[in-house]
Amino acid sequence: MLYKNIIIESDNGIVTITINRPEALNALNREVLSELDHYFFNEAIAAEIAGIIITGSGERAFVAGADIKEFLSLDQEKAEAMGRKVHRLFSKIEQFRKPVIAAINGFALGGGCELAMACHMRIAGSKARFGQPEVNLGILPGYGGTQRLVQLIGKGKALEMMLTAEMIGAEEARSLGLVNHVVEAGQEINKAKEIIMNISTKSPLAVGEVISTVNAFFDKTKNGFEEEIKAFGRLSVTADFREGASAFVQKRKAEWKGR
Ligand code: COA
Repeated sequence: MLYKNIIIESDNGIVTITINRPEALNALNREVLSELDHYFFNEAIAAEIAGIIITGSGERAFVAGADIKEFLSLDQEKAEAMGRKVHRLFSKIEQFRKPVIAAINGFALGGGCELAMACHMRIAGSKARFGQPEVNLGILPGYGGTQRLVQLIGKGKALEMMLTAEMIGAEEARSLGLVNHVVEAGQEINKAKEIIMNISTKSPLAVGEVISTVNAFFDKTKNGFEEEIKAFGRLSVTADFREGASAFVQKRKAEWKGR
């Protein structure tokens, strides 16, 4: 697919997706969402990728939210359909079996904060700003924000952010657990790459199982403990587990086969 609103670059197995609508502070319009959807459902193959970084173009914004101009044409049916489609995409990102990291270079508001929260980790530049300002518009965070913000920072602070619509800075976001690291502005992608490179030295099968088992904690249809026991069993019979344990005993670096 020819992407017009996102830029996809690959370097050493690390894919960087840049949302590229700087004139609208990278707001998520239908085209951006369908391009992301196409990439994650048709092109992103976890086994061939070390990790994915999602960032925004320019210096001002990661993503300043869903595209408010498009909101004006919504009705109940269209809004629900749109919510469902974006939930499906963000869940796909969350379930990706290699690390997906948001490199947040500026405003991460509304759907932007929600996209960042669907990623496995968040790296913020020192000027990044976070918020869920939907109540200012008479709507609520509809792309998973009411659930993932609570998961990450707890109910009290999540409600404060969503009800007051006030923005918080990078350091506060870190102290709340919303972001993993704060770095000098411009260094977000480098830090994300460093983390992905580290994870790429680990067993890819184990990495995938950790991601899906941690996600199971938040899935009300699953028993996370049971999922963990099953994943433990599955990994125990892999060539990579034998290799990892043998490499430890033989004091050498493991060579992963991915099986
Ligand atoms: N949807 C559509 N367009 C958006 C947008 C959004 N979520 N956020 C910013 N833009 C557009 C603005 O309309 C403006 O375009 P214009 O020049 O054609 O008018 C451009 O991006 C620059 O934004 P502007 O508001 O002029 O910049 P600012 O520095 O004064 O303010 C923000 C920056 C982020 C505080 C402000 O843009 C804002 O509040 N955006 C909306 C945030 C929001 O409510 N997100 C949740 C949506 S559910």
